[in-house]
Amino acid sequence: MYTVITHSPEETIETAGVIGRSLGPGSFVALSGDLGAGKTVFAKGLAKGAGVAEYLYVNSPSFVILKQYKGKMDLYHFDLYRLEEKDFEETLDYRRYFYGDGIAAVEWCDRIPHLLPEEYLEVKIVSLGDNERKITLRGIGKRYEELVEHMGRGS
Ligand SMILES: Nc1ncnc2c1ncn2[C@@H]1O[C@H](COP(=O)(O)OP(=O)(O)OP(=O)(O)O)[C@@H](O)[C@H]1O
Ligand SMILES: [Mg+2]
Repeated sequence: MYTVITHSPEETIETAGVIGRSLGPGSFVALSGDLGAGKTVFAKGLAKGAGVAEYLYVNSPSFVILKQYKGKMDLYHFDLYRLEEKDFEETLDYRRYFYGDGIAAVEWCDRIPHLLPEEYLEVKIVSLGDNERKITLRGIGKRYEELVEHMGRGS
């Protein structure tokens, strides 16, 4: 497990950027935290790290579950806040993205616990105040455990 405290959205983007650069193609990031915790800000950073030029435009539009951004690696950004679970499985070929070539970043993934891949990076964000956020990373599966260990060593 690795925990970092950031003091601005920019710092969260930088932290997530390092992770985005370290994640290979076909990665999965499960983002959790309350409304306004910073999940979307973190996703911006992942996009930056993945080489998405317009990473600052990553947002969570109200009624869209998935947005795809082109980069060196693509980012598949999901926001499941308004999800009707049945709809997700029936109307979207989510496996294409969860097991695709890019980085899948999923906000509110606790809505689909049974659909999560076997291995993924868990990112939990807690607000400690106006601009302070506690970000906890946990690797599920060997590949992600190693990535989190590397973060801990500052490399
Ligand atoms: N250190 C920080 N890291 C990230 N965001 C921060 C930080 N400090 C302040 N903020 C602010 O917190 C807000 C985070 O919003 P964001 O949309 O990322 O939250 P979210 O977790 O995606 O919420 P939602 O569940 O509504 O999608 C932004 O307004 C951002 O500017
Ligand atoms: Mg969001």
